[in-house]
This record gives sequence, structure tokens and C-alpha cells, in this order.
Amino acid sequence: MRKGIILAGGEGTRLYPLTKSTSKQLLPIYNKPMIYYPLSLLIDGGIKDILIITTPRDNLQFRKLLGDGSQWGISISYEEQEKPNGIAQSFLIAEKWLDNSSSVLILGDNFFFGHGLIDLTKKTFSNEDSATIFLHEVIDPERYGVAKLDTKDNIIDIVEKPTSHISNWAVTGMYCYDKNAPIYTKNLKPSERGELEITDLNKIYLAEQKLNTEFLGQGFAWLDMGTHESLIETANFVKIIERRQGIKIADLDNLRLS
Ligand code: DAU
Repeated sequence: MRKGIILAGGEGTRLYPLTKSTSKQLLPIYNKPMIYYPLSLLIDGGIKDILIITTPRDNLQFRKLLGDGSQWGISISYEEQEKPNGIAQSFLIAEKWLDNSSSVLILGDNFFFGHGLIDLTKKTFSNEDSATIFLHEVIDPERYGVAKLDTKDNIIDIVEKPTSHISNWAVTGMYCYDKNAPIYTKNLKPSERGELEITDLNKIYLAEQKLNTEFLGQGFAWLDMGTHESLIETANFVKIIERRQGIKIADLDNLRLS
């Protein structure tokens, strides 16, 4: 069974003073804590075993909020990341817990919404031997990992924070890997910014011709909730959908166990 990892560490310095004494991923997004959104995406996608990686400072708060997951029919475990040494470090921290399982890693500040998303995640997560990244079109690709595509939309390269234009297809913060992710991560060297880069891990899968791509097209919203603007924008987005359409997003507290 594919297992899920939510990376919810980092210092959140862009959100100071909001995050001086609490975790970014616990901040409110309209009527729920931020982490509810990626967590419910994993649950809706059929993931039953989830590891949450936090800073040492904030670990207890997450445990208090989410418990052991049994209230949602899943199992939640916790680990700490001493320092934000890179997104790919998740696989070194999670290696023992993963115990040779395939995985899906999601960043705790990433918000996904769209028609057909649950079907897409269910399908992708259930194919256990596959590695998949999810691309979304953005107007500011220099802020992200970006996919270079050939004329047939095959991915040929990924560049982290490109300084010249490659494409508008950003690599979102949700990544599916086969059981080899921890082994591959051990071969990574820290980047110039001193981090084990998720882009470098993706490039290994790409070189092995094992990287699948899903394009999250026009019907999808992808937001990262790491700035003051995006915090309020995402909150408004959730409010508008919930109040006007009557749909509940990430409504974990009313989740019925099936
Ligand atoms: O949001 C998607 C982007 O996430 C991708 O397109 C990029 O390829 C990927 O590198 C990453 O971009 P950033 O480098 O801008 O991510 P950031 O450093 O803001 O970290 C993303 C989240 O992960 C943030 O909520 C903090 C958390 N994090 C980050 C690192 C580096 C950790 O918990 N631990 C870490 O060591």
C-alpha cells in the first residue's frame, strides 16, 4: 500500500510574525487549519498510513490537533526535521517508517482543488510502482521547479527556479514515488542553497525514464499558502466555494468513516 508523507516543517519566515511561535501549517485557512487541506487530499485519495514531519518545536501541537488518525479510519505517525535541509530530506527521515513502501509526499502548505481531483489521485496513488509529478500552469514560473517539455508534451528536464523562461508549467508540491525514493535520496548532494532538492530527486526518476506527468489543467486550482497574500487568497477561495456552492472542502471534522 502506498503511504503518505506530509512535510510540515520549515521556519515560515516569510510569514513573520505570524509564525514566530507557531507553525505555518497550523494557521487558519478560513475555517480549518492549513494542514487539513493536504491531509484530506491524501485521505480522499485512499491513503491509510500517513507520516507528518514537523519542526521539533511544533510536533506536539500537530499531535494534539490530529491525534493517531483513528477518528478518520487511518493511522497518523509523526517525525521531526531538525533543520529545513530540503524537501527531499523527508525520505531520509521517513525511510524506516516507509519500510520499502511506495509513497506520496505532499507539502503541508500546498492547496489543490478541482473537478476530478479525487479520481485522479485515487488512480495515481493506486498504481504502486509509478512515480508521478503534477504540473500546473503559472504566470511566475521563476518561483518554482519548472518542467521543460518537448513538442509532444513529454517532460525532458526540470529546472529549480529557472532564471530564463523554460515553460509556465510549475511542478506542484505533490510527488508520487516508488519504493526507491529513500535510496535515491541518499545519492543527492546539497544544492547551492544547502538543501536536498526535490527537483534533483525528480531528475533521477526522469533519467531512469520512470517519471510520469499529470497536467492539472484549467479546471484545477493550485495555491501555495506561504505568503500573506496567498493565505488570504486561499481562505477567500475556500469561503467562496463553501458559501456559494455549498460544497465542503477538507471537512475532516464531519468525515464519515466508510
Ligand atoms: O510549492 C512547490 C515548490 O516547492 C516546487 O515547485 C519546487 O520545486 C520546490 O523546491 C518547492 O519550492 P520552494 O523551494 O520555494 O519551497 P519552500 O522552501 O518554500 O518549502 C516548501 C514547503 O516545505 C514549506 O511549507 C516549508 C516546507 N519545508 C521546506 C524545506 C526546504 C520543510 O518542511 N522542510 C524543508 O527542509
